[in-house]
Amino acid sequence: MKHVGSSVFPFALALLLSFSWATSAHTHENFLQCMTLRSENSSSTSKVIYTPSNSSYSSILQFSIQNLRFSTPATPKPLVIVTPTHVSHIQAAINCSQTHGMQIRVRSGGHDYEGLSYVSDVPFVLIDLIDLRSISVDAENSTAWVEAGATTGEVYYRIAEKSRTLGFPGGLATTVGVGGHFSGGGYGTLMRKYGLAADNIIDAQLIDAKGRILDRESMGEDLFWAIRGGGGASFGIIVAWKIKLVPVPSTVTVFTVNRNLEQNATKLVHRWQYVAAKLHEDLFIRINLTSVNSSQEGKRTIQASFISLYLGVIDKLLPMMQESFPELGLMREDCIEKSWIESILYFAGFPSDESLDVLLNRTSPTRSRFKAKSDYVQEPISELGLEGIWQRLYEKEGETAFMLLNPYGGRMSEISESEIPFPHRASNIYEIFYVVFWEEEGTAASESHISWMRRLYRYMAPYVSKSPRGAYVNYRDLDIGTNGKGNTSYERARIWGNKYFKSNFDRLVQVKTTVDPANFFKNEQSIPLFSSEWKKGGD
Ligand SMILES: Cc1cc2nc3c(=O)[nH]c(=O)nc-3n(C[C@H](O)[C@H](O)[C@H](O)COP(=O)(O)OP(=O)(O)OC[C@H]3O[C@@H](n4cnc5c(N)ncnc54)[C@H](O)[C@@H]3O)c2cc1C
Ligand SMILES: *[C@@H]1O[C@H](CO)[C@@H](O)[C@H](O)[C@H]1NC(C)=O
Ligand SMILES: *[C@@H]1O[C@H](CO)[C@@H](O)[C@H](O)[C@H]1NC(C)=O
Ligand SMILES: *[C@@H]1O[C@H](CO)[C@@H](O)[C@H](O)[C@H]1NC(C)=O
Ligand SMILES: *[C@@H]1O[C@H](CO)[C@@H](O)[C@H](O)[C@H]1NC(C)=O
Ligand SMILES: *[C@@H]1O[C@H](CO)[C@@H](O)[C@H](O)[C@H]1NC(C)=O
Ligand SMILES: *[C@@H]1O[C@H](CO)[C@@H](O)[C@H](O)[C@H]1NC(C)=O
Ligand SMILES: *[C@@H]1O[C@H](CO)[C@@H](O)[C@H](O)[C@H]1NC(C)=O
Ligand SMILES: *[C@@H]1O[C@H](CO)[C@@H](O)[C@H](O)[C@H]1NC(C)=O
Ligand SMILES: *[C@@H]1O[C@H](CO)[C@@H](O)[C@H](O)[C@H]1NC(C)=O
Repeated sequence: MKHVGSSVFPFALALLLSFSWATSAHTHENFLQCMTLRSENSSSTSKVIYTPSNSSYSSILQFSIQNLRFSTPATPKPLVIVTPTHVSHIQAAINCSQTHGMQIRVRSGGHDYEGLSYVSDVPFVLIDLIDLRSISVDAENSTAWVEAGATTGEVYYRIAEKSRTLGFPGGLATTVGVGGHFSGGGYGTLMRKYGLAADNIIDAQLIDAKGRILDRESMGEDLFWAIRGGGGASFGIIVAWKIKLVPVPSTVTVFTVNRNLEQNATKLVHRWQYVAAKLHEDLFIRINLTSVNSSQEGKRTIQASFISLYLGVIDKLLPMMQESFPELGLMREDCIEKSWIESILYFAGFPSDESLDVLLNRTSPTRSRFKAKSDYVQEPISELGLEGIWQRLYEKEGETAFMLLNPYGGRMSEISESEIPFPHRASNIYEIFYVVFWEEEGTAASESHISWMRRLYRYMAPYVSKSPRGAYVNYRDLDIGTNGKGNTSYERARIWGNKYFKSNFDRLVQVKTTVDPANFFKNEQSIPLFSSEWKKGGD
């Protein structure tokens, strides 16, 4: 990799950094100049840099913001946005950010729950990988190279173009970016058979803090381990992943069975907890819990939707359900046979007549303001415990909330807790995703919904994993590690670190300290450098 000479160095030093909106034009000028000098391909550089004075700055910034809580006039904005079309642009952006003392944020799909990929309190450059999203599928060898800016929908589409009997075990929403998603784990309907997306990564291309382009061999197994579940943002910029494709049958079956309280929902959810993680690994049944209007006027009820993918035909599914979960009363009419790629549309919530091309549409159909959290369940929750959840879903803020219960077991239980940084394996029967949405702008609505979510989370404490109470890093939650315990950033990091990564946290800290000793790749929940304070307790 060649950088253009050292002639610009004095100019870099001359920039004495007091960043504010007032100096942004100045910064832009210097940053742009630095970018041009540093880029291997300088002719293209000016086409990939935006400052607030470029008319498309706003639309580029807004485009992939999924959580509109972080899209207000008061939300801090990047001084510069870079949309690389070439690795040399990334290398230059890293060098120039360091030279000008700016932080960077890296965005692939923009689905971070706390906006960490595009918001920072300090002056920063946004590197948005939207234009690095090529995908090349090698069906013969069941592998693919996928650039980080691709979405899961694009990946599934390109696989299906080549083969209807290959798939990939990633997430269900089709607008999620693989840069964030795969580096934090990534689960979907194939998880019980094949594990997480991160369990199926076989190589990667990453640019480190020194601007070096590394692959699996040159980065070494420690760093390659860390970026498969430890979150990418702490270690470098992931440019591309090489993934292992998995076999899927040409016909799969999906169903959704809705049961409300008058239809024994409480008993069925209770029973599901004993069944779901032990089912055949070809069968995935998740539950969506919401409060809905009851048929009795003016009353509400709880609806449990049992949503399922079976890797096979209806004729095999029905006897399996009769044997394992007869209480649900699944009927042949509830079941629909599809190809695996059509099941992706089904789980993403698209109508059945929608064209597969919708997978290439990067605009999420469900942008709104939200707060989400996660939990892991190791023992079934009692019916009484479930009824307490119903009470909270009936509250006003709970009307726009839902909870997803995602079954573990199968392949998830076979992979060791330390295989990759994602540690939530055999001890769990399912994972809970909680989310509450609201339409209203302003702090009042946001505060009331967020505090509702925190109350629900407190209520759940006795029923979920403990010491640590596990959480999923891709369901980023900045509440974790800020609730009273610990008053240094190290103490707090240890708290969220143990929740997301359990004992893998220490190895992540070691890798971080080795590969990014200056802590350039940094955000509110990035892996910290090793500190002697680590020795002092923490839970
Ligand atoms: C509607 C919706 C549905 C979801 N469904 C699922 C699901 O089914 N299964 C599941 O497991 N998760 C799901 N998620 C969570 C999702 O996996 C995470 O939010 C994930 O981190 C998003 O990745 P992204 O690239 O879109 O996000 P971004 O906001 O772009 O990035 C997330 C984090 O990764 C970092 N990052 C991004 N790209 C790179 C890169 N190239 N190199 C280094 N660091 C990078 C960012 O800096 C940030 O810290 C869902 C989220 C949403 C909003
Ligand atoms: C430089 O950029 C131009 C325009 O984006 C592109 O056509 C060309 O292939 C690039 N050259 C290199 C060496 O990347
Ligand atoms: C943004 O504006 C600058 C200054 O006018 C220009 O040089 C640059 O090419 C613009 N960026 C893009 C991506 O158009
Ligand atoms: C940026 O690149 C130049 C040229 O290669 C190099 O001299 C300089 O040290 C780099 N700066 C940083 C902060 O990495
Ligand atoms: C499959 O992998 C082998 C070995 O790496 C390679 O030689 C071959 O070209 C690959 N097949 C395709 C279609 O790329
Ligand atoms: C509810 O369960 C009872 C037995 O537990 C059963 O008799 C009844 O038919 C069920 N009701 C519905 C609507 O499924
Ligand atoms: C869960 O149900 C609610 C209410 O019907 C719906 O808005 C939401 O999209 C569903 N979520 C999933 C992932 O099925
Ligand atoms: C539910 O009932 C309330 C009040 O009875 C009504 O205002 C609301 O529109 C209903 N919602 C739906 C989705 O039918
Ligand atoms: C992409 O999806 C968005 C959100 O659902 C929709 O508004 C838009 O029309 C779609 N674009 C195309 C080209 O279909
Ligand atoms: C916070 O730090 C101070 C000074 O180090 C210490 O005395 C105090 O016990 C700490 N509080 C907590 C809750 O850890």
